[in-house]
Amino acid sequence: MIVAIDGPAGSGKGTIASMLAEYFGFKYVDSGLLYRKVAAASIWAPSVDLQDAIYSMDFSKDVLRSEEVGARASEIAGVPQIRSLVTELSRRCAQNIGPYAGVVMDGRDIGTVVFPGATCKIYLTASPEVRAKRRLAYINRHGSGTATYEEVYENILERDSRDSSREIAPLTISDDYVVIDTSNEIPKESFSRIKKIVENIL
Ligand code: DC
Repeated sequence: MIVAIDGPAGSGKGTIASMLAEYFGFKYVDSGLLYRKVAAASIWAPSVDLQDAIYSMDFSKDVLRSEEVGARASEIAGVPQIRSLVTELSRRCAQNIGPYAGVVMDGRDIGTVVFPGATCKIYLTASPEVRAKRRLAYINRHGSGTATYEEVYENILERDSRDSSREIAPLTISDDYVVIDTSNEIPKESFSRIKKIVENIL
């Protein structure tokens, strides 16, 4: 069973996907992290091969989660060669699930391109203002940078526009997605709604 969670930056995908994975005993795969690894390598180790960037390079969580790497990941995610490699690796991650009962994968194109046949497709969203506030809180909590609210808000809008307008695998939804707006909810509330959706399908 594959649960696909797609949505824009800051919509809460990672938090909700981890909660679902823990609750159902599923493997959690963060496809954005694969793009972030390639992005970090393109900044600090540009001569490294793509697969090595994903498998061998060791960047800290704070570096990978930074605004700089997020923006770069959104740029390189439009490159066909990088997209097909990450798509292939994401599919492979879902094949080798060992003791897990299923997979929760989050990203931008999981239910449309990576696993169009996913058992359950959720599109998580929230207003840009709320998403910018969440990102800023994350940056302040982790001490990863000194961005202002305005900068983070602009980055979010830029990333939304780039991720949804690129030619290959843009952020979009099909009829079989359930759309969940998390703007006015704490993670526990969104989790509880999505948990019920998944339970009804199981
Ligand atoms: O989910 P995230 O913010 O960590 O993703 C970083 C960037 O990677 C995002 O702006 C676009 C790209 N991405 C993508 O194009 N497709 C995915 N499935 C996941 C991420």
